[in-house]
Amino acid sequence: MKSILLIEDEKSARYALKRVLEDAGYSVVDVEDPDDIQSVSNFNLLILDLKLRNVSGIDFLKELREKGKNIPVVVITAYANPQNIISASRYGVIDILKKPFDREELLELVDRVLKEEEVSEVRTDTKGLIVGESERMVEVFKKVGLAASTDMNVLLIGETGVGKDLLAEVIHENSPRKEAPFVVINCSAIPETLLEAELFGYRKGAFTGAVKDTKGKIEQSEGGTLFLDEIGDMPFALQSKLLRFLENRTFYRLGEDRERKADVRVIAATNRNLKEMIAEGKFREDLYYRLSQIVIEVPPLRERREDIPKLVDFFIGKANQEFGTNVKGIEVSALKEAMDYEWKGNVRELKNAVYKAVLETKKGFIETLNLSDSGGEELDVLLERCIRNLSEQEYREFLSRAERKLLEHLMRKYRGNKSKIAQVLGISRNTLKSKLEALSIQNF
Ligand SMILES: Nc1ncnc2c1ncn2[C@@H]1O[C@H](COP(=O)(O)OP(=O)(O)OP(=O)(O)O)[C@@H](O)[C@H]1O
Ligand SMILES: [Mg+2]
Repeated sequence: MKSILLIEDEKSARYALKRVLEDAGYSVVDVEDPDDIQSVSNFNLLILDLKLRNVSGIDFLKELREKGKNIPVVVITAYANPQNIISASRYGVIDILKKPFDREELLELVDRVLKEEEVSEVRTDTKGLIVGESERMVEVFKKVGLAASTDMNVLLIGETGVGKDLLAEVIHENSPRKEAPFVVINCSAIPETLLEAELFGYRKGAFTGAVKDTKGKIEQSEGGTLFLDEIGDMPFALQSKLLRFLENRTFYRLGEDRERKADVRVIAATNRNLKEMIAEGKFREDLYYRLSQIVIEVPPLRERREDIPKLVDFFIGKANQEFGTNVKGIEVSALKEAMDYEWKGNVRELKNAVYKAVLETKKGFIETLNLSDSGGEELDVLLERCIRNLSEQEYREFLSRAERKLLEHLMRKYRGNKSKIAQVLGISRNTLKSKLEALSIQNF
């Protein structure tokens, strides 16, 4: 018979759980306080409440793992915040059961875990800078925790502003490499010719302007994590060089023939569809497989609207800190605005909207996030007037002309800063680039 150790400080919950498990044919030992446990060695599974009276479940878990106990653990908790989930996953928690849960849910989970009985490695704790309680994000955080406990390459996929950068850092901060550097290289921001030198470093005189021997980002991240942001924008030619590095962790500085080695964990991110790019011959398939040992897909905000209220509160708090304002919260009507909005720029757009509203509100409660600013009634009236004045020949061109006007205006206003323009439009930098190309709008 499989035996289960149950740690739960609340008496009625403990008895109820014990009964359900015993009825299902497991043998159960239940304790109120982890101190009452002599040894966990004889159990097949530990069910642990995260919030115990005298000690945090996570601390207990950490201690357990440090002693080398690798018993499978299922955690039960009423408040599954991201940090708890990430830490729990790092301490080899197999699953998290949110209270209240029903009998079937519990039994199904226990059954599954006992069949798998596998654990991941042991790590330490994190800081709380990330928000999300939706089911979709809970899945993401679990993967982040697992990714942190391995040395595998991670690929973060998701629309602009969903939090890929943030999660890359969280993975590093939770990994055994956290004392070593976390180095970012943005493959779309650096001109093609410089990217290789930035990545691999160079020898003095390797090219005009190479005035001294210089370490690349790979070497700078020795022992730590290299974050390849916007990997979809890496030029094809460079992709094979990166692949070579990923395969055997060796590389050459530009202009040098001495092979160098680096101990680096790689995380990459993109908002582009790499599979499509592979089909179009723009991204190397072999590189894709190398990079995607663990794939974490971060869902757009509109697919996890439950996270919006917490994110709004979080950003109000942060904005108050940064601006010294004293905004207490948000009116229900304004929050409703946020709940109904499209959020094409995802969390980044939400953050910007909240920061702006905090600056305008200063104290008290935010009354509106002004989300319809750009699509409001005034604009409708103006557009209506334009359309009415169009000649028959002009109908066809109307959309592209409107788009052209807008893009030209933005290119001037932001001096050709495509990242910024993509951000205000809530589209990806690459969508913007292809629009600019299609309309042959030049750089300013
Ligand atoms: N779950 C979250 N909790 C708190 N802050 C978040 C969360 N997700 C994103 N943010 C914040 O939103 C902003 C945008 O996130 P980030 O830069 O990580 O997005 P991204 O996916 O890398 O976007 P892009 O594809 O445009 O580079 C950042 O300021 C980040 O800190
Ligand atoms: Mg990013």
